Amino acid sequence: MDDDRAWGWSCADLVEISRGRDTPFYAHDLDGMKHAAKALVASFSGASHLVAYAVKANSSGTVLRTLFEAGTGADVVSGSEMELALRCGARPSDVVFSGVGKTDAEIDAAIGAGVASIHVESIEEIARVAARANALGTRANVSVRVNPSLAKEAIATHAHVATGHDEAKFGVLADDMPHAFASLRRHREWVVPVGVSAHVGSQLTELEPYLASTRAIVPIALEFRRQFASTMGMIDTGGGFGIDYGKGCILQPSDFVRAVRPLLESAGLGDLRHAIEPGRCLVGSFVVLVSRVLQTKTSPSRPELRWLLVDAGMNDLLRPALYQANHRVAAIAGGSGALVPWRVVGPVCESSDDFGLHELPAEAPSLVCFRDAGAYGFTMASRYNGRALPGEVFVSGGIVVGDVRREPCETWVSDRLRA
Ligand SMILES: Cc1ncc(COP(=O)(O)O)c(C=O)c1O
Repeated sequence: MDDDRAWGWSCADLVEISRGRDTPFYAHDLDGMKHAAKALVASFSGASHLVAYAVKANSSGTVLRTLFEAGTGADVVSGSEMELALRCGARPSDVVFSGVGKTDAEIDAAIGAGVASIHVESIEEIARVAARANALGTRANVSVRVNPSLAKEAIATHAHVATGHDEAKFGVLADDMPHAFASLRRHREWVVPVGVSAHVGSQLTELEPYLASTRAIVPIALEFRRQFASTMGMIDTGGGFGIDYGKGCILQPSDFVRAVRPLLESAGLGDLRHAIEPGRCLVGSFVVLVSRVLQTKTSPSRPELRWLLVDAGMNDLLRPALYQANHRVAAIAGGSGALVPWRVVGPVCESSDDFGLHELPAEAPSLVCFRDAGAYGFTMASRYNGRALPGEVFVSGGIVVGDVRREPCETWVSDRLRA
């Protein structure tokens, strides 16, 4: 078994929580999240700010309430996420609505709620938001998400989560901004131009792509302010702050804020409300996915092949299959002997249901957990292969304060019978 508390959890606590509980389930350390959110809020040192937590990373109500109480707002990408955030206590003035393709109903809901900003991602969207505001007889707060058009190689992260290059579908290209400005002027009766935003990519473990993205939007923000001085109030430099999945990340989320503030201040934009959109860094490291070992599989003719079949699959934790991500696996109960490489795999009928090679005891453990599973974990879970959605447990002050059991398998059966 791994050392107790070496990675935030005590094995004994996790064993206790798993007693009589269906696996797999996600276990959340709410205190860790609260602490991380407060540290990030504090890093603005009094400057006007909005820490808009990216709800897509982890949308459990308990998590949202914890983060909002710690001083964050929300970055949402659908009408449902917006409704959830508001119902969990986010103030509309602390909510930004991002997303490259919003429905009319979602735009209407965002206008009706009076969110701080609808981040439009195309020139066409400005006209759509204006038309909906006109239909509702009110004005909509609008920021333009700018695509900073960095070279793909300059965004040091996995290609699937790099968003700030020309070929990505996100944001308005810097070269197209004159058209966006013209459209904002044309629709001024119905839109309030409040600012600009950018998001260069996710899981950044270096500062430079974030700084390069901000340097790219500074001249655009200055022009925005020249044209819309009376309404511009916000600059949003995005999220993407990386965490340590095992390969190292020496940066703290607050390092990004501290590095980017001088850029805004020296450009004369330091007085604007500075929004950021962190998701992963506020939740990722504070959650483990607990899973039982179903059985081992070995090959008498090829003794080097050694599989550990666990009851968590790619439907529960998709990141390894989707992004070739690695989540460290720790033994929680059982297991003895020297560490040997096991290929940890789930029960889903796909070759990509493979969590990679992990050093675990030769006598296999009975209970394991996947570390750093709090971001894009449960939110990407599905019922593929007729599997149930995983459970969720929330811990604060050493006690379980929230508990959602894994779905019964009958839920899937009855759902499919109705279809
Ligand atoms: C527009 C936008 N903002 C914020 C985020 C959150 O990123 P992260 O969880 O890496 O901080 C994302 C992630 O995809 C995003 O697309």
